[in-house]
Amino acid sequence: MADRAQGASTEVVSRTSDRDRAASPAEFARLNLVGQSAPFLESLQRLRKIASCDATVLIEGETGTGKELAARAIHYLGERRNAPFIPINCGAIPENLVESELFGHARGAFTDAREARQGVIAQAEGGTLFLDEIEAMTPRAQIALLRFLHDHEYRPVGGAQRAANVRVIGASNADLVTCVERGTFRQDLLFRLNVLPLTLPPLRARGDDVLLLAESFLRRFCQQYQKPAKSVDPDAIAQLRAYSWPGNVRELENLIQREVLLTEGPAFDLGSLRAVESDAVASSPPTSFMGKRFQEAKASVIASFEKAYVTELLSRTRGNISEAARLCGKERSRLGKLVKKYGLEPSLFHDASSDGC
Ligand SMILES: Nc1ncnc2c1ncn2[C@@H]1O[C@H](COP(=O)(O)OP(=O)(O)O)[C@@H](O)[C@H]1O
Ligand SMILES: [Mg+2]
Repeated sequence: MADRAQGASTEVVSRTSDRDRAASPAEFARLNLVGQSAPFLESLQRLRKIASCDATVLIEGETGTGKELAARAIHYLGERRNAPFIPINCGAIPENLVESELFGHARGAFTDAREARQGVIAQAEGGTLFLDEIEAMTPRAQIALLRFLHDHEYRPVGGAQRAANVRVIGASNADLVTCVERGTFRQDLLFRLNVLPLTLPPLRARGDDVLLLAESFLRRFCQQYQKPAKSVDPDAIAQLRAYSWPGNVRELENLIQREVLLTEGPAFDLGSLRAVESDAVASSPPTSFMGKRFQEAKASVIASFEKAYVTELLSRTRGNISEAARLCGKERSRLGKLVKKYGLEPSLFHDASSDGC
């Protein structure tokens, strides 16, 4: 079952396409993949085909577009579904532990190795290894992975060579072709990974999926936090559609979780969500400032920009203020003041799916 089909993406897909069933909406709903827009359904059709092959996959798409969810769907729709799905964040592997994390180590292989330890490849045996944020792999990790993908054989640190039966799915927030051009990602590794490519569309290109997703998250969070059921207020619909969602589905999910936790009432009305309004403010005609004195209008635009900017930063960094400060080039303490000023609660930006709150 090991993947030896590198470089043959279209061939792999067309060979299996005859026996592919059409993607069933119920099947995708069971996998929590919500959406009916044309670009999203196109990705799901491709996902269904990819699940029926057994080659390496590369999923690309902006942050929060559902790459990990798609990788799980590929695993659970495919023949490896009864074996483990092991996700690992490549950016989080320390440089000196790359081989040990991926391949494991034998007892006594190095000073701290008091016990033998399995690497993620062995943990995923028979199943799928999901390499998230693959663009963040260090050069050393890229070489280790390239060697493994060549023949699916590896050597645990201090141990003997062995073979693995693992499907690899990589995901990247960045365009890897650009990373290759910049010299931060190996071209040979990109070729090895890119056997079956899947690109997920950004939420702003998914039309009314934003409303379906909003309803779905509202139902889930009201149930989870035992709040009375809410529906999306008609006034909020236009705002949800108008916003550009730089953090994609994750941003929407976090926003609705916050709204369910922090506001009462039967309707989801976006009353407190300046982040969503700010896009509309920025693109609306100047007549919206009529009746306001210049200083007052300017202050309100700055305030709504600041709140939107900081909200987006927190959403992108999942509430990590140090990382947010680094990203925007502001001192941590100054950013912390802005977070306070707009009543934002960093802990509510932690990944909604893993956050019991
Ligand atoms: N189509 C979708 N339907 C329902 N939830 C989704 C969908 N896409 C993404 N999500 C949710 O959005 C969040 C971010 O998804 P994730 O797969 O982690 O994105 P990425 O890996 O691209 O950053 C997760 O909580 C996930 O469950
Ligand atoms: Mg991810």
